[in-house]
Amino acid sequence: MHDMHPIVVRLEPGEYRICHCGDSLEHPLCDRQQGPVCRKAQLFTVEKARNVPICQCGRTETFPVCDGAHGYSQAERARLKRHGG
Ligand code: FES
Repeated sequence: MHDMHPIVVRLEPGEYRICHCGDSLEHPLCDRQQGPVCRKAQLFTVEKARNVPICQCGRTETFPVCDGAHGYSQAERARLKRHGG
């Protein structure tokens, strides 16, 4: 079961693979537990060094970056979207 809050990781500029299989020992980053080409991992490019909140709830619309959706129920989220939130 995933934590309902993002994991914040410091990422330097470069290309990263975000773990989707759940087997990575370096979660939320892929460490290729599924082999050299882990098909479930999603590529993510960082242009400038920054702290990145990686979504763990699966509800963000800006995957892999947390957009705060974990703090709302689906009904609240739908209401906010209707009102431009
Ligand atoms: S953890 Fe924040 S939107 Fe998923």
